[in-house]
Amino acid sequence: MGPGPEPAPGRPPARERAIAGFAAAFGGHPTALVRSPARVNLIGEHTDYNDGFCLPVAVDRELWIALRPSPGDADDAIELVSEQEARAARVTLPPPDVPPPAAAQRRTTEGWAGYVEGTAVMLAAAHGPLAGWQGVVASDIPTGAGLSSSAALELAVAAACAHIAGLPWDALAMARLAHRAENEWVGAATGLLDQLACVSGVAGHALLVDCRHGTVEPVPLPAHVAVVVLDTSTRRRIVTSAYADRRVECARATRLLGVPALRDVGPSLLAEAAGRLDPVALARARHVVTENQRVLDVAAALRAGDVATAGALLTEGHRSIRDDFAVSSAELDAMVEAALAAPGCLGARMTGGGFAGCAAALVDRALLDAFAAAALDGYHAATGLTGSVLPCSAVAGTVAEPCPGVSSPGHDRQEAHRDNRP
Ligand code: GLA
Repeated sequence: MGPGPEPAPGRPPARERAIAGFAAAFGGHPTALVRSPARVNLIGEHTDYNDGFCLPVAVDRELWIALRPSPGDADDAIELVSEQEARAARVTLPPPDVPPPAAAQRRTTEGWAGYVEGTAVMLAAAHGPLAGWQGVVASDIPTGAGLSSSAALELAVAAACAHIAGLPWDALAMARLAHRAENEWVGAATGLLDQLACVSGVAGHALLVDCRHGTVEPVPLPAHVAVVVLDTSTRRRIVTSAYADRRVECARATRLLGVPALRDVGPSLLAEAAGRLDPVALARARHVVTENQRVLDVAAALRAGDVATAGALLTEGHRSIRDDFAVSSAELDAMVEAALAAPGCLGARMTGGGFAGCAAALVDRALLDAFAAAALDGYHAATGLTGSVLPCSAVAGTVAEPCPGVSSPGHDRQEAHRDNRP
């Protein structure tokens, strides 16, 4: 997607903008709304493609789609207008086939529309014909900031398609489809973390994700602690090659260690086998091995209400990703140090793929205002840049619902379904 919106003070939230945008683009009312959250990864960075563990949180920075089925006289297509993009995404149905072998040769769309088309392609391949719809997307998720705006869009499109076509919604299966769309259609070889976090969110909880088995265990976040995103205001666009380099380095370490994945390596095996690895492969492996353990330890500490230990592990995680994995930046380091020096900070680290974007901190809620002011002052003093602080709440994952106040057969069916929920 294109450059992200920074919600201006007084700007209506994305939900309202999507509904208003729908009336302006298509006339009339949407019949359904989709909400899809951003994710902040608390800890467990670059572990997902090593079959390891992560601890993300789905947060209340959200992307919304307002939509309705295509009118009967329209060509069967998905048409999605974005408030951020000059050109709408249009996917003619049926979408192209999944390309054999995985490569984006069959793309008919360009730019952000690739996420829409790729998701439709993977859904149709798994579930059969889709039904057309028209919608407007609005987002309060900054893009390029390491908060998974792309996964939020993919899952929102999947939820919209599933809602209109009456497909079953299985969170893990949908995360895997969206992940395939990103890898095989858009061409970004990322892991499963982002999609799984967006789709599996639970209010008030972090998510302990086991990337090998695709399982997600909600971990309660203590109420007196806030997850705070600290945006450095730096964005780096060309990070795909550095990300791919890290994947290659991890694959080399895996091969030299003779294991199925770095997930299968503990500290003692790594110490014994260190001589078989070149220094770069050893450092990358050391990060992944220690990071997997930190994820499990942070989850255990949060469950025990031991926020001091959880925070200290986050900070340790930053040193590891900075020194051993080498995906931080001067600005991310400065933001982490400024956060750590601010009142109420229990721990801080960069979050997401790295190189630019955001850090995340665990902060004592009672000291939130003093924390925000001191962290931003410290960051400005160190870099000359103006950052921003976004306190976050953990929210539920991607969901499609009928638009309130609109009655339709689909709406009535959905209401009945909701009433039967446990
Ligand atoms: C990006 C990728 C994820 C994950 C993180 C690093 O966000 O999309 O799959 O690898 O980087 O943890």
